[in-house]
Amino acid sequence: LKDIASADVAEKRVLIRTDLNVPMADGQISDATRIERLLPTFRVLASRGAKIVILSHLGRPDGKPVAKYSLKPVADKLAAMLGATVAFADDCVGPAAEAVVNALEPGQIAMLENVRFHKEEEENDPAFAAELAKLGDIYVNDAFSVSHRAHASTEAVAHLLPAYAGPSLLAEIGAFKVALDHPERPVAAIVGGSKVSTKIAVLGNLAQKMDYLFIGGGMANTFLYADGVAVGKSLCEPNAIDTVKEIRARAEAAGCKILLPVDAVVAREFKANAETEVVPVGEVPADAMILDIGPRSVAEFTGLIERCKTLLWNGPVGAFEIPPFGEGTFALAREAAALTQAGKIVTIAGGGDTVAALNAASVTDKFTYVSTAGGAFLEWLEGRTLPGVAALIR
Ligand code: 3PG
Repeated sequence: LKDIASADVAEKRVLIRTDLNVPMADGQISDATRIERLLPTFRVLASRGAKIVILSHLGRPDGKPVAKYSLKPVADKLAAMLGATVAFADDCVGPAAEAVVNALEPGQIAMLENVRFHKEEEENDPAFAAELAKLGDIYVNDAFSVSHRAHASTEAVAHLLPAYAGPSLLAEIGAFKVALDHPERPVAAIVGGSKVSTKIAVLGNLAQKMDYLFIGGGMANTFLYADGVAVGKSLCEPNAIDTVKEIRARAEAAGCKILLPVDAVVAREFKANAETEVVPVGEVPADAMILDIGPRSVAEFTGLIERCKTLLWNGPVGAFEIPPFGEGTFALAREAAALTQAGKIVTIAGGGDTVAALNAASVTDKFTYVSTAGGAFLEWLEGRTLPGVAALIR
């Protein structure tokens, strides 16, 4: 990967693909983390005299302009956070975009309207990519989190201009390599979330690479069920039993130990502050459901984390968004954060729910690296090459 830091960008139009697909509520940005993380990228390029042209998508407008998916509020927020002017073009290609880009002086910034307002974007259409390429002298991808999409602004355009990797994409890939490709051992992964069926490939890949795999969340119920443990009314996928067996076989062949919860917080109702009970996993009442890991599981998992040098985390181990079912996830998060801060472990976490859970535990900035990528993080955990990254390698 060619690093944009090594390119001569002075007075050049730098067309940069970002992922400013930020969460919105009632027309307001509800979480600006993705903008914040890109501020250094823009500041450095501006100080080096680049004319910065920002590309992004927002939401899934389905190939046509939809007002609520306009990037204008994001451009305004970026301007406020940077303390600089950000020009905005109502379209990402054609005369509107060209006029805004042509007016840029070195060090100035323009943002173009949502690339997904054109259906050609998701089709990875070469002619549309050529229209985008007209707006830059150099292309930069600084959007790891959308690099699993082979779209015109992430894939096709990279073949039409000198293409570079941006600093946040490089940092993200660097952190992941430390965790998955060359981890300091022992290395463990916590994989949670509700369903095995959404993470089959992740579990299969990690079973071959990790020393320990802690399974939590709803998917642990399916593992328990496959082992013949009654899980009451818990979320469970009886059809995934063969998958679980396959994952276990792979783990065994690779010398990876799979750990399941030994106790659980159960309730009869899935609602905030429902009456709960802690039971060993073999004793879940028929009318109750598992909603979090119990204190003995927390102690067992944390004890093991203490012996590890690297920890990868994807997915909460309980229904953390409904109190009190976040306690298990928060306890593991606090322990991992404290060990990271003490320099004893490298911790890499990612995925939408995971970031929300770490935020709720107030430890996000205490991990070694927390990725804001959702789907891209999962595909990377599956061991896949992301098309947007592959397109930068020539
Ligand atoms: C994300 O938020 O994960 C990325 O922006 C990709 O969005 P998408 O899933 O709509 O392609």
